[in-house]
Amino acid sequence: MRRVMIDTDPGTDDALALLMALNCPDLHLEGITTVGGNATLAQTTQNALRLVEYVAGERDVPVAIGADRPARGSFSYAYHVHGTDGLGVNLPSTARKPHRADAVELIRDRALAAPGPITVIALGPLTNVAAALDGRPDMAKAIAAIVVMGGAVEVPGNVTPHAEFNIYEDPWSAHAVFASGVPVTLVGLDVTHKTSMHRDSGPRWFESTSASAQLGNRILANSFQARSDVQEFYLHDPLAVAAAIEPELLTYRRAHVEVMMDGEERGRTVACYGDGPVQVAGGVDVGRAVEVVRSLVSK
Ligand code: BDR
Ligand code: CA
Repeated sequence: MRRVMIDTDPGTDDALALLMALNCPDLHLEGITTVGGNATLAQTTQNALRLVEYVAGERDVPVAIGADRPARGSFSYAYHVHGTDGLGVNLPSTARKPHRADAVELIRDRALAAPGPITVIALGPLTNVAAALDGRPDMAKAIAAIVVMGGAVEVPGNVTPHAEFNIYEDPWSAHAVFASGVPVTLVGLDVTHKTSMHRDSGPRWFESTSASAQLGNRILANSFQARSDVQEFYLHDPLAVAAAIEPELLTYRRAHVEVMMDGEERGRTVACYGDGPVQVAGGVDVGRAVEVVRSLVSK
């Protein structure tokens, strides 16, 4: 079993990604760290705690609190996409409490723990991940790989013509992660905008009676109901988890990736192909990827 940590801002598609990881027999989810982004840090943390309780019950998956703001300024949030609480569906409240250590401490602790290397899957702004690496060269060695949902390399952005949301929200931390020397897999809009579930495929996008499938169906139904102009639910964060499980779902080009920090190109990801620490995903086996998401959420 591969040891993984998930850093996340749930978030509707983050929630599906968490369901996949919790249900996947090939992954050992060692912990979840939360960051502001789609909603406030308090909301993303509460969403993560409730979701773990709802589908994983007694299982001990620590949820640690991370950053409530990016390296500079503040998060802008995406309530228009993810609903007023970041999820759009009411999950039962939980007595589950956040882990005693914060996100940076938990990432560092799990990275140094045995057995074997750990992969960090980053599904939100990269603030926590950059902070865990900052001033700690031992971390860059201990973390085997970081799979990042973020960026729009050869395609337009989704918050500006140039930038994808997660990178736009904290370009300084994204830059630090890409320059850290840790191997990064960049799962950006180049592939996630090809990987979606259509409104008309519902209301049983996930065909099972499991709690996880039912929750997945509620999330998609609510999301489509709240946004009548939208036909596709993009599987951004789920595709990053799928790539961590089955890397050959995607094709990649190796690169150094620069992040624009300021001005109208803020958050733009520019790849210089050849060699470098980043594998930029450019192609995806859409049918197979959607099937991986469907089957894991349906478990
Ligand atoms: C990313 O932004 C967020 O709104 C989603 O959860 C995903 O991580 C897509 O641009
Ligand atoms: Ca996200």
